[in-house]
Amino acid sequence: MTGSKSGGGAKRGPRSKTGSSAGGFGGARQMNVRLKTATGRTTSSQRWLERQLNDPYVAAAKREGWRSRAAFKLIEIDDKHRILKSGQRVVDLGAAPGGWSQVASKRTRADEGRGQVVAIDYLAFDPIPGVAIVQLDFMDETAPDLLKSLLRDGGADVVLSDMAAPTTGHTGTDHLRIMGLAEAALAFAVEVLSPGGAFLCKMFQGGSERELLTQLRQRFKVVRHVKPPASRSDSAELYVLATGFKG
Ligand SMILES: C[S@@+](CC[C@H](N)C(=O)[O-])C[C@H]1O[C@@H](n2cnc3c(N)ncnc32)[C@H](O)[C@@H]1O
Repeated sequence: MTGSKSGGGAKRGPRSKTGSSAGGFGGARQMNVRLKTATGRTTSSQRWLERQLNDPYVAAAKREGWRSRAAFKLIEIDDKHRILKSGQRVVDLGAAPGGWSQVASKRTRADEGRGQVVAIDYLAFDPIPGVAIVQLDFMDETAPDLLKSLLRDGGADVVLSDMAAPTTGHTGTDHLRIMGLAEAALAFAVEVLSPGGAFLCKMFQGGSERELLTQLRQRFKVVRHVKPPASRSDSAELYVLATGFKG
């Protein structure tokens, strides 16, 4: 299904203007909720639920009106590396439920009509002020041109990708899938970014990202790995941040 809708009717928005309340929760008091095993709940879903209930980022996201705890990953990365600026055009790949798009919209002031955020996911999610949402698989051959057609002057200043396919539990397979998405995101970024632009992309720690890093180093002035505090330390998740697109 393909659809494109512009934000404006969001039920709620982040309560902090710049969304920089994160700063890590390393020192925060950890809750310790233990659940009695419910009939029908698997051990892994029990573990997931307990982790959610005990996660200070989940609580803060709810309190501050962010759609996802993932919003804090972008907040932390951007607080440190300053990639989002007022007036920029941003593409958010794998955007549902919309935490990163909320942050991008606030920080580029797309919600005030200055910047622009175009977001894509095959999952539907609620509108966000200042964000044009495309519901489509990014791997669909029509997706890149559709995104470009929505961008002011057909180009972007920042391409974000937090795309991740559902995990299979098999590390090798999961790694290959995420790298496939990262490669497609980079191919798109190279097509749309303006000189000086930035690319932030989810990856996994592992071996096969070497080729992708080589490509990134050819096309961008600075390439670094980033692991924000909000990214769970027990997860192999890692982001690559490439800045200074050479054009
Ligand atoms: C970790 S979530 C993104 C969370 C988001 N950054 C936020 O802050 O709310 C990853 C998303 O990637 C999406 N995704 C994975 N593969 C995709 C694809 N081929 N096309 C579009 N979206 C995709 C998933 O549907 C999922 O919503």
